[in-house]
Amino acid sequence: MEKLKLALTKGRLEEKTIEIFEKAGINIAPFKIRGRKLITYLPDCNLEVVFAKANDVVTYVEHGVCDIGIAGKDTLLEMDRPVFEMIDLGFGKCRFALAAKEGEDFYGGFNRKVIATKYPNFSKEYFSQKNIDVEIVKIEGSVELAPLLKLSDAIVDLVETGTTLKENGLTVLEDICNISARLIVNMVSLKMKKKSIESFIDRIKSVL
Ligand code: PRP
Repeated sequence: MEKLKLALTKGRLEEKTIEIFEKAGINIAPFKIRGRKLITYLPDCNLEVVFAKANDVVTYVEHGVCDIGIAGKDTLLEMDRPVFEMIDLGFGKCRFALAAKEGEDFYGGFNRKVIATKYPNFSKEYFSQKNIDVEIVKIEGSVELAPLLKLSDAIVDLVETGTTLKENGLTVLEDICNISARLIVNMVSLKMKKKSIESFIDRIKSVL
C-alpha cells in the first residue's frame, strides 16, 4: 500500500479518532510519544498523521497535501470547500443552534438583528434561506458572551450538552442541524490512490 497522509483536527476529535484507530487494530504507540511534534508516522498502515486546526485540516485536504482529513461537519459547512465527505464517524456529536437570552423576542420588532458567531458563512446562508436580513459579527470563541454584553441579539453556535447556554441565561430558539466528525478525502487522491484510500476507509468503517 502506498503512503497516505491524514490531517487530524487537534483537540476534541483527536482522542476519539485515536480510539477508533486502536479499535481498527492500528498500533497507536507512536501517538503516545509524539510530544509537541506535529507529524506522526504510523508504520502499521503506512500513514502519516498531521495534527492541525480544524479549518487547516480542510485546507490541507482541499489542496491535496493531505489525502484524508478528519474534521467536524461544522467546519465543513462553514468552509464549503470541494472535498469528498466519505464517512460520518459518529462522534463529536452536537448541533448548530440559534440561541438568545431567555425571554428575548428575537423575531419581534423591525430592527435589523445582530448575530454573533464563529461561523459567519454558515449563519449568513441560514438567514438568507429564511429571507431575513441580519448583521453577522464574527467572534473567535465563547460566543455566548456576545448577547450578554449586548453586542448581539442572538448567536449561532454549537450546542452539545446545553450547559454553557443554561449557565449563562441563554436558551435555544431554533435547532439548525446535527453535527458530527466526518472523514474527508481529496478529490484527486481518491482517483490516484484509490486502492489505499478505500482499504483504509474499510478498516475504519469496520469498527464504527
Ligand atoms: C463549544 C461551543 C459552546 C460549547 C457548547 O465551545 O462553542 O460554547 O462548546 O457545549 P455545551 O453545550 O456542552 O455547553 P468550546 O468549548 O469549543 O470553546 P469556544 O467557545 O471557546 O470555542
